[in-house]
Amino acid sequence: MIDQFGRRVEYLRVSVTDKCNLRCIYCMPLEGLTWLKRDELLNYEEIETIVRTMAGMGLRRVRITGGEPLIRRDLPDLIRKISAIPEIEDLSLSTNAVLLADQAQDLRDAGIQRLNISLDSLQQDRVDEIARRPGSFPKIFEGLEAAERVGFAPIKVNVVLIRGRNDDEIEDFARITKERPWHVRFIEMMPTGSNLDLSANSFISCQEALTRVRAIDQLEPVDGPFGNGPADYYRFPDAPGTVGVITPMSHNYCHRCNRMRLTAAGQLRPCLFGEIETNLRDHLRAGRDLRPLIEETLQIKPERHYLVQGSEIGSGGLVALSQTGG
Ligand code: 5AD
Ligand code: SF4
Repeated sequence: MIDQFGRRVEYLRVSVTDKCNLRCIYCMPLEGLTWLKRDELLNYEEIETIVRTMAGMGLRRVRITGGEPLIRRDLPDLIRKISAIPEIEDLSLSTNAVLLADQAQDLRDAGIQRLNISLDSLQQDRVDEIARRPGSFPKIFEGLEAAERVGFAPIKVNVVLIRGRNDDEIEDFARITKERPWHVRFIEMMPTGSNLDLSANSFISCQEALTRVRAIDQLEPVDGPFGNGPADYYRFPDAPGTVGVITPMSHNYCHRCNRMRLTAAGQLRPCLFGEIETNLRDHLRAGRDLRPLIEETLQIKPERHYLVQGSEIGSGGLVALSQTGG
């Protein structure tokens, strides 16, 4: 699958639910969103059919996302279906880890190879304030421990930078990579409909984060762990882990974008942001061939996103990233 700008698309992020058990301040309003109804969601057979079709067109890697994917019932059933598709070489999952301790082994047995875990603070009171579901902190750490114990590696930890909330922990997060094989990735906050004030007033660039990390010790650019995503990686001398930065706002990686997204409602989105999406679900349910639709969607993949700090411009009406799988 090659788009009109020469980008090879071989990676699909599959959102399995729009719901979440946390309410991170930059993502979801406390009262939640209008959730999809059950029959609006793709079922596992439908997701499998779409992934199989795309695998026949060049898809090689799949990441399961949400919302929070671990709240969807019987997720290992879906993982097994996708693992059984011979062309899919890499199957990974993004989670907030709250429910991971109980599920880590099953997920690994079902075929998940790698995990990304969202964790915005190393301090309990801060996690309570950012994720707004008090009591989550110990569960997240049990989840992280379980992930390491059952052998997930590498573990990537995603940290969304929020001024006044976690910016004084940039050094703490970075230092962990000297001790543990974690790949800590700082992410610039992106504006969506529900976080315009916060993303305008509490934005921190990754450049600022890196300047502070460099003050700890020498930092050299390295190739990232397997994944080929939008992050750039650095390493302290002899450190087992790396520090990565994902810079949607201050620097554009769109020219090397390799992905599309499938929303929980079965919309194929060629870009995280913007208005373009193709309703695969209804065509699938009507028994039509999906290939021409997928090809068309690939060919209208935009060259870049057009996000504007402090504005909904470019977000394509997105209220929260949980709606598209982040
Ligand atoms: N800006 C940046 N990152 C975000 N995430 C969710 N919403 C935003 C936002 N507005 C992150 C989550 C998770 C990843 C999938 O996306 O914290 O780590
Ligand atoms: Fe849930 Fe992730 Fe959104 Fe937090 S960022 S509310 S964990 S979907």
